[in-house]
Amino acid sequence: MIDLAVEIGTIRMSNPAMLASGVMDETGEALVRMMEAGAGAVVTKSIGVAAHDGHPNPCLVELPHGYVNAMGLPNPGMDRFAEELRTIMPAPAPVIASVYAADEEGFVAVAAAMEDAGAAGVEMNLSCPHAAGFGMELGTDPARVRSMVEAVASSVSVPVMAKLTPNTADITAIGRAVEDGGGDAVVAINTLRAMCISPEFARPVLSNRYGGLSGPAVRPVGVRAVYDLRRELSIPIVGVGGIETWRDAAEYIMAGASCFQVGSAVGRRGPEVFREITGGLQAFMESHGYAGMKDMEAAVHD
Ligand SMILES: Cc1cc2nc3c(=O)[nH]c(=O)nc-3n(C[C@H](O)[C@H](O)[C@H](O)COP(=O)(O)O)c2cc1C
Repeated sequence: MIDLAVEIGTIRMSNPAMLASGVMDETGEALVRMMEAGAGAVVTKSIGVAAHDGHPNPCLVELPHGYVNAMGLPNPGMDRFAEELRTIMPAPAPVIASVYAADEEGFVAVAAAMEDAGAAGVEMNLSCPHAAGFGMELGTDPARVRSMVEAVASSVSVPVMAKLTPNTADITAIGRAVEDGGGDAVVAINTLRAMCISPEFARPVLSNRYGGLSGPAVRPVGVRAVYDLRRELSIPIVGVGGIETWRDAAEYIMAGASCFQVGSAVGRRGPEVFREITGGLQAFMESHGYAGMKDMEAAVHD
C-alpha cells in the first residue's frame, strides 16, 4: 500500500484527509469520532474570543448538490472550548483549531488559547461569508490579511494556516499576502456567498438572508482556486470544497493540494467517507503508477 502520510510543518498526519471546520466538530467526543473513522487530522468549529449564539433558524438549506448555510459562527468562546479540547489530549490525530476574530489582537488571543490547550495548528478563518465584521469581510484585503497572519504567526509556535474565500476577484493576491505574512499554508476554499428564496413565502429562506454554498456544486471553483494558488505560492495548499469521493480528492491533489478537507460529505454520507476516500485514492495511485501525491500534481502542472 502506498504511504499517504503528509506533513504541514510540525503537523504530522497519517493520511491527507482532514475534517473541515464546522461539520460535526463542536465537541471533543465528535472530534475523536472523526479520528477513529480515519481522518488524518481534524479542524474544529471556528472559535472566537467570546461565546456567540450564531444566527437563528432557519440557518441551513439542503439542496440536491450541497448546502447553503448561515450558522453565523456559533461557539462557546475560547476559554470553554479550550477546556473541551484538553479533555481529548493527547489526541490520536492532530487537532487544528479554527479561529476567528475582528482584529489582530483577537486572533492572537484565540490562537494562543488553542495552542495552550493542545492544538497542533491554527486555521485562521478569513473567509466566513455570513458573519458581519468577521471572516470574509477581513479576508479580501491583502494588506489586512498579511498583517493578521503576521500577528498570529509571530505569536504561536504551531503552524498557522489561513482559510481563503472564493468571493474575491483574485484569490492568489490573498494567498500571497498569507505567504508574505509568514503563514505556513493556505486552505482553499470556504463557501460561496449564496441565497435561496421561497417563492411561496416570498422571502429569503435563511434568517440571515445570505449564506454560503458548499458541497459538490462548488468543487470546480475550489479546484480552480487551488490550481491558481499552486502556480503562485510555495507554501502548502489544503484543498476543500465538494470532496465526496476519492476521485474528487484526486482532482484537488492534481491541482496542487498537499492534503484536503471534507465537510458537507461528512454530514451527507457520514464519517465513513474518510476511509472510502483514502482507500480509493491509494488504489487509484497504485493502478496508475503514482508513487506519491507530488507525482500526481506534476502530471497536471508542467
Ligand atoms: C454547516 C457548515 C458549517 C460551517 N462552519 C464553518 C466554520 O465554522 N468555519 C469555517 O472556516 N468554515 C465553515 N464551513 C465551511 C467548510 O469548512 C468548507 O470550507 C466548505 O463547506 C466547503 O467544503 P465542503 O464542500 O466539503 O463542505 C462550514 C460549512 C458548513 C456546511
